[in-house]
Amino acid sequence: MKTHQKKQQNYRIQVDMEQSLQPERSDAFSFDAINASITGRTPTARYLSDIQTIFADQMACHTLLAQNPLLYCVTQIEDHNDEGDLHYGLAVLMPGKVGREYFMTKGHIHAWRPAAEVYIGLRGRGMMLLEDERTGECRAVPLAANSTVYVPGYTAHRTINVGDEPLVYWGVLSSAAGHDYGAVAERNFRLVVVEQDGQPVVMERTDFLAELVEAAA
Ligand SMILES: [Fe+2]
Repeated sequence: MKTHQKKQQNYRIQVDMEQSLQPERSDAFSFDAINASITGRTPTARYLSDIQTIFADQMACHTLLAQNPLLYCVTQIEDHNDEGDLHYGLAVLMPGKVGREYFMTKGHIHAWRPAAEVYIGLRGRGMMLLEDERTGECRAVPLAANSTVYVPGYTAHRTINVGDEPLVYWGVLSSAAGHDYGAVAERNFRLVVVEQDGQPVVMERTDFLAELVEAAA
């Protein structure tokens, strides 16, 4: 048994060395789970000004636009595009709020609607909104370090950072999935995740908008 384990360890070291000697290979990467960087790849950054319309409290949004904070960065690896291949991406979503609403991603649904996706949390504390396009059902599920979320097909999804440190996660999906941002931008999500008494709560968007109107009156 001990001999077998030793052989396994040697084999693993040998494989790692082969990969490190071939950094140009597109099927082996090293990444940093703290700042969500992938060696040799450039992230795409999204600032508040890029996605300002998704937030419910537009007055708070306009105030914060003076600082235009970075909300998130995504590094996509889309090197393999044959039938059956996978795409994957590493994202970091910053902590913070627009008014009472936590920083979140733009959200999307896959252009190829049946395509599912797996999210793998590496760092931080967050949530995902999952909204079934066919039924309109919307739910919030936790996404945090050492947890996964399965996003079924036909389901719009958005990530939200409800913690006080960056939320870092992988997403892995079919290379045929594609991203449809327009459908989500048009209707937004039915639910919002907002801070209430220091804790994240999930609310209907219409109820939260009514609260904002009442607070402004
Ligand atoms: Fe997705």
